[in-house]
This record gives sequence, structure tokens and C-alpha cells, in this order.
Amino acid sequence: MAENKNGIAPNPPLVLVERKGAVAWLVLNRPDAANALSRALVAALRAELAALAGHADLTAVVLAGAGDKTFSAGADLKERLGMTLDETRAFLDELGALVQAIEDFPRPVVAAISGAALGGGLEIALACDVRLADESASMALSEVRLGIIPGAGGTQRLARLCGIALAKELILTGRRIDAATALKLGLVSKVVAKPDLRAAVASLCSELAAAGPLALAAAKRAIDKGFGRPLGEALAIERACYETILTSEDRNEGLRAFAEKRPPRYRGK
Ligand code: COA
Repeated sequence: MAENKNGIAPNPPLVLVERKGAVAWLVLNRPDAANALSRALVAALRAELAALAGHADLTAVVLAGAGDKTFSAGADLKERLGMTLDETRAFLDELGALVQAIEDFPRPVVAAISGAALGGGLEIALACDVRLADESASMALSEVRLGIIPGAGGTQRLARLCGIALAKELILTGRRIDAATALKLGLVSKVVAKPDLRAAVASLCSELAAAGPLALAAAKRAIDKGFGRPLGEALAIERACYETILTSEDRNEGLRAFAEKRPPRYRGK
């Protein structure tokens, strides 16, 4: 890296932002520290997501890890060692807010998992809408081995994804599973060869690009907010989400394009 005029190399950004057409890749960029989630990295990722949330032309966000060995090793355990209890509580709140921002992000968020996704790293991936992995991926909620428990939604989201019995087995043992096992358990929806992960994610995102962006946001919200509720309540939530797009230009454009036998041109309005 080039040095500045004081002869000091500037710090590289903690999150690399790569815009590829209508898709934004956010790459956790601490490869020498296994992309561990320091306070600064969590803050940077939250800031990037907040900045992207207003982009009407965005189809999807992809979260990935820099380097070729880790998605993220979870909380920065070296930083944690020097934290007071109150600082640790504040960190848990910040990490929780990041994970919530991923879940609430008004577009699909895709986790591209290469290498290890451990602890908070896996919890971030669990909050994403779709998880794709390559054959090098491995994952664990290994917190109990450190004498703690998953603190960013892992106990709840893993149980919702793959059932309470498997979640208990994985969380109480802290066992690390490989990509093929993760696929079998439904933790990831696809596993590809390591060199093919980016292409697989790009292909998924191009399918998402066929959708109206407001429809993506409303469908995601309907599924997330309705899940686990009694059916009547969940259906009312679906209807409320539908209502938000009923008066949109995109909805009219979709109908017109169908009638005119042409591809729709959605504007996210
Ligand atoms: N926090 C802080 N630093 C971490 C870290 C974490 N969670 N995980 C890894 N690192 C650091 C290592 O200490 C090492 O730094 P060093 O070169 O200064 O010693 C560097 O990242 C690379 O890790 P290393 O273990 O040498 O790489 P690896 O490829 O052999 O293994 C992991 C990578 C992620 C599998 C392994 O580091 C690991 O198991 N980390 C612990 C993860 C964990 O328990 N997370 C749960 C958090 S609740």
C-alpha cells in the first residue's frame, strides 16, 4: 500500500464496497485477523448498510470475507480481552444492531461464505436472506467452548432455520460442520466449487434483478415479520406488505409490461 506524506501506510478500509451494477458487495476486510468483528468493523459495516439502504436502484447486497480463508471468525477475541463488562455489553448491542440492520435491509442480503464462518460471523450469515457457500466453507456457533453463548441472534435464528433439536446439538457442542453438512441441514442453499462462488452469487443476483425492487422489499418483510405468528396474524402482515406496493409505479409497470409483451423497467418507485 502506498505511504502518505508522513511515511505511514494509511489503514485499509475495514469494509470494501464493490458496486457491480445493481448489486453491492460488502467485503469484511481484516484478512490478517480472520475478518474478526472488531468494534470498528461492526461500526463500518453498519454505516455501509445504512448508506446503501436509500439506493432505490439496488437489487441486492452481498456480504463476503476478504482473503481466501475466512468469511469471519466472529467477535474479535483479542479486543474482547481488553474490554470492560460495560464495553462488552455495548459491543453486544452494536453487533445485535448490525444483525438487525441486515435482517431489516430493504433488499435481499446474500452471504457468500468461503472458509470459516464462526460465532458472530455465522450469526451475520444467519441474518442474511440467502446463504451460498463454496466447498471450503465451514461453520460453527462455537461460543460455549469459550464459556459464553451466541449473543447476536444465533440461538434463535439457527433454531428457526434448521429446527430446535439440531440447533441444540450444534450450539451445545459448538461443533464445526463442513459445507456439505451445512447444505444437508439447510443452513446454506447451495455449495459450489471454490472458484465458482462469485459466479454463483452473481447468477442468483441476476435472477433477483428480474424482480421489482419494492416487491423484493415487501416480500422479504412479509416472510420475516409473519414467520412464527399464528396464520391469521401472518396473513394480515402479508396483506399489509402488499398494500405498500399497491400504489407503486413499479406495480403498474409490471402489469403494462406483461400486456405489452416486453421486459419491465422497474424504478423502485
Ligand atoms: N478474534 C481475533 N483474532 C482472531 C480471531 C478472532 N475471533 N480468529 C482468528 N484470529 C486471528 C488469529 O489469532 C491469527 O492472528 P495472528 O496471526 O496474530 O496469530 C489470525 O487471525 C489468523 O488466524 P489463524 O488461526 O492463524 O488462521 P487459521 O486459518 O489457521 O484459522 C480460524 C482461522 C478462524 C479457523 C481460527 O483462527 C479460529 O478458530 N479462530 C477462533 C474463532 C472463534 O472461536 N470464534 C468464535 C467467536 S465467539
